[in-house]
Amino acid sequence: MDYFEIEGKNQLFGDITVSGAKNAVLPLMAASILNDKPLTISNVPKLSDSITMGNLIEEMGGKVSFDHSNITINPKNLNTPYAPYKLVKTMRASFYVLGPLIAKFGEAKVSLPGGCAWGPRPVDFHIDGLKKLGVEITLEAGYVIAKTKKMIGNKIVFPKISVGATGNVLMAAVLAEGQTEIHNAAAEPEIQQLCLLLNEMGAKISGIGTNILTIQGVKTLGGVESIDVIPDRIEAGTFLIAVAATGGKVKLNNVEPKHMESVISLLRKSNIDILEEKDSIIITSNGLDIKACDMETHEYPGFPTDLQAQWMLLMSLASGNSTIKENIYFDRFTHILELNRLGCDVHLEGGSATIKGNRSLFGAHVMSTDIRASAALIIAALCAEGSTNISRVYHIDRGYDKIEQKLAKVGAKIARKK
Ligand code: UD1
Repeated sequence: MDYFEIEGKNQLFGDITVSGAKNAVLPLMAASILNDKPLTISNVPKLSDSITMGNLIEEMGGKVSFDHSNITINPKNLNTPYAPYKLVKTMRASFYVLGPLIAKFGEAKVSLPGGCAWGPRPVDFHIDGLKKLGVEITLEAGYVIAKTKKMIGNKIVFPKISVGATGNVLMAAVLAEGQTEIHNAAAEPEIQQLCLLLNEMGAKISGIGTNILTIQGVKTLGGVESIDVIPDRIEAGTFLIAVAATGGKVKLNNVEPKHMESVISLLRKSNIDILEEKDSIIITSNGLDIKACDMETHEYPGFPTDLQAQWMLLMSLASGNSTIKENIYFDRFTHILELNRLGCDVHLEGGSATIKGNRSLFGAHVMSTDIRASAALIIAALCAEGSTNISRVYHIDRGYDKIEQKLAKVGAKIARKK
């Protein structure tokens, strides 16, 4: 099994090109099955999650081809609305095919995705939302069995904002009869891009980027030839935090600064120098004068939960103590034990973590527990005295396209070993 070997205490200088957003490409791939025409998605990160979604579409009869950073999906022969456990269990976002399959075939059998390393992640909002559109849903032996003769638009109010449920229900509602309103809809840039693709296909969605989406159902959707995936704001945020922590000066290319305002403003508050350009960001840090700042995760445009672990590491190096309140996933703190093994001093009470600043970190053997926790461990290792081995890097390969090569290019001593 691959592991990373990292020698710490190097500052980072140079430039990094950020990949397309994983969390955008997966729903775009799911949306491609809503008609019969091929769609080419470009700026696709080479990740095991994109491959898993491709395998799932092929399993159902579609054709998927990868060419560098392009994926072409031809859904013409996709004729089996069945997403088996063996694929859905490896990636929760496979559940995204439920809405499009119901819209296209009037029926679907999709495995329930199960839990996550940091706790249960239910799909009740997805199911209740689809039921409101007139879909009959039963659960049998770990599968969602969905059937509908005709979907009718309705008002759906999610109990809280959910990225996945918004995308799933949206992809069904575009082909329902009449008007659907989704309240507490996700405004995340990845959902905005999904809406824009659906509208290009002929859907009628308004309120994009707000928490209320209004959808006028249409009878059919047409094809769109190509779409370019938006830059990955979580990958970009991870690199910003890495440079803030190690010190150095790095220019990030292929970024959308306006998707990252909460992260940029908190980094500035922590004394880190950031220059925003049209599609790049230059960060400068001496890695020494980091000011402690409390942080709470929130839905977009708030500080993303997917950067919480990385922020925790940065605050361990700050000049004072700080707190983190996790408002999206109350259990998402599995990284604390591993970060503490590298010298951090973080205590958890309820949904809040208290982080002691001014920590000196020392290399050790640590283990990845999920995608973003692994990113925090890499940054910690880059700041630690001596050598760190990080095992189970398959977690990081799900969400970061060649992270070790990108970091090595700016001076990090990081190598993938077998
Ligand atoms: C997406 C992202 C993930 C990110 C998360 C929150 C993708 C592929 N993944 O995950 O990286 O961490 O958004 O920004 O885009 N919930 C329910 N019932 C449901 C659905 C959600 O209770 O049916 C709760 C969840 O437990 C969580 C909250 O709603 O507390 C938000 O989760 P959600 O936005 O759905 O996350 P995902 O779409 O799975």
